[in-house]
Amino acid sequence: MNLEIRIGELTRDLALLAMFSGDPAPAVTRVVFSEQDLQARKFVKDRCLRAGLTVREDAVGNTFARWTGAEPDLPAVATGSHIDAIPNAGAYDGTVGVLGGLEAIRALQRSGFRPRRSVELIVFSAEEPTRFGIGCFGSRMLAGLLDAPLDGSTLRDKDGKTLEEWRAEAGFHGATASVPLPPGHYHAFVELHIEQGPLLEARGIPLGVVTAIAAPASLRMWIEGEGGHAGALLMPDRHDAFCAAAEIVLVVESAARSTGAVDTVGTVGVCDVFPGAVNSVPSRVRLEVDVRDTDLARRDGVLASIERECGEVSARRGVTVRTEIVNRDRPAACDSGVVEALARAAAAHGLAYRKMVSRAYHDTLFMSQIAPAAMLFIPCRGGISHRPDEFAAPEAIAAGALVLAEALGELAS
Ligand code: HGY
Ligand code: MN
Ligand code: MN
Repeated sequence: MNLEIRIGELTRDLALLAMFSGDPAPAVTRVVFSEQDLQARKFVKDRCLRAGLTVREDAVGNTFARWTGAEPDLPAVATGSHIDAIPNAGAYDGTVGVLGGLEAIRALQRSGFRPRRSVELIVFSAEEPTRFGIGCFGSRMLAGLLDAPLDGSTLRDKDGKTLEEWRAEAGFHGATASVPLPPGHYHAFVELHIEQGPLLEARGIPLGVVTAIAAPASLRMWIEGEGGHAGALLMPDRHDAFCAAAEIVLVVESAARSTGAVDTVGTVGVCDVFPGAVNSVPSRVRLEVDVRDTDLARRDGVLASIERECGEVSARRGVTVRTEIVNRDRPAACDSGVVEALARAAAAHGLAYRKMVSRAYHDTLFMSQIAPAAMLFIPCRGGISHRPDEFAAPEAIAAGALVLAEALGELAS
């Protein structure tokens, strides 16, 4: 197909989208249902309407922009990603898949291509776990995988405000039970995304075709000790919750390293200390823990070893450790048919690609439960992501959007 990506407009819109942020540039902070998120949604919806797409939003803000095909009753082909961003993040994580997906659709429109199947851009609500502690709650719900006890009425942020309250305030109504889409609703799903790792850039390869996505698990832990006066409470009498938590942080690190597999990772990214006064012995600490692996059994082995070691720390230090599993997902195997369609699309444009695993999770992890799905990666500078210096070069973005357009064209024919 004779496809042209208007990279000037695309990079301009990525820069405009990045301005909807709760932090000054170059940082991008855009937490789901925040003022910045709502403005960003409006911006993207406006671009979709200008492209002649019909737009609808579901009860939790997943947004669907459809280019109706010649046979509108056939299952559509979908693409998309997210526009929410964790605090102090960059301008390309997720947004490349949304605005790049829209540009791919526009390039198909401009080429005179007429899709047999409708082509739909999806902007998923809250791929990031920042607000409610669980990643991908929009795509998880679409796949019918956000069920009790964690569901729309129980998901709440750290101040106790529920998803129900947040979504109503943001103007998204309807029962959350209306969100799940049935398997077969889509013919295929492809997500364009920055790699968030160094491999493609290091090998000088312009595209990655993702064949599997690592399985994330996240935990919340509360360590309860005994507080007291930092001067008067003598060391032998202490049950310092923060010292216990510090040991647990190192337990997570060593449990991940101990598998010897490069795909096993463990991180403690959140640590709240109570009461948080310099002259008060911490009585309570809350940790948020992220453990991933491409191999499910190995990942669950790490979780089991963390639990065992926490028991040992708890007994030795006289503190209690309570753990809540927030999510414990299976890895995703991408669909070979969609993977090959992406490979053919890259070859059609003379672009080298490499099949690879995604260590970051994405909405595709859940879309793959209800549709044949795969991902297309482009390099990002130094593999950096979730930082203000995250960067994807215009030519890399253009190559990704071009191959995405070609693949969508084939899948929708
Ligand atoms: O954490 C992740 O893998 C994704 O970027 N939210
Ligand atoms: Mn991210
Ligand atoms: Mn992302």
